[in-house]
Amino acid sequence: MNTPAANNPVAIEQISYLATYQLRHEVLWPGQPIDFVKIESDSDGYHYGAFFNGRLASVISLFVNGHEARFRKFATQKDLQNKGIGTLLLRHTLAEAARIGASYIWCDARTDALTIYQRFGMKPNGEVFYKENVAYQKMKLNLR
Ligand SMILES: CC(C)(COP(=O)(O)OP(=O)(O)OC[C@H]1O[C@@H](n2cnc3c(N)ncnc32)[C@H](O)[C@@H]1OP(=O)(O)O)[C@@H](O)C(=O)NCCC(=O)NCCS
Repeated sequence: MNTPAANNPVAIEQISYLATYQLRHEVLWPGQPIDFVKIESDSDGYHYGAFFNGRLASVISLFVNGHEARFRKFATQKDLQNKGIGTLLLRHTLAEAARIGASYIWCDARTDALTIYQRFGMKPNGEVFYKENVAYQKMKLNLR
């Protein structure tokens, strides 16, 4: 668990996958039933939450399989987006993936969220594809 500096109201903690569901649902798939945001392997993953002044502001889920890491279901509360919270959470997640032993990490990124991944040096891998009319691009980064 990270202890936030006195002037930094963001704290990042490992959380239960159950704690991610509401944010995943509200931000990513509000028009779908809650079961749509559950991942079969959720119980095998690492789930991190960024708390802003004590409120769960952003969530992300990390799955590591040997040298391969993947993150999924990255979402920040609408009213707290574009404040740098997601950047802190993603930085933490990439560091955790490397610490756990992954040599690369990938995600299926919504194309309208690509720039945050590009700022971390992630590169497109393959073609744009669609899920429920949302455009995605696989993005990849070597961790060592
Ligand atoms: C993508 C998402 C998780 C990022 O979380 P976030 O907390 O908004 O992330 P940040 O605030 O760190 O960065 C978002 C943007 O705000 C900018 N930003 C960061 N700090 C900022 C600040 N203090 N003031 C203004 N802008 C800032 C970043 O540069 C970034 O811009 P970019 O996307 O053009 O690179 C969030 O926007 C979200 O939930 N989007 C909807 C769901 C979604 O698309 N999820 C990703 C699926 S792949």
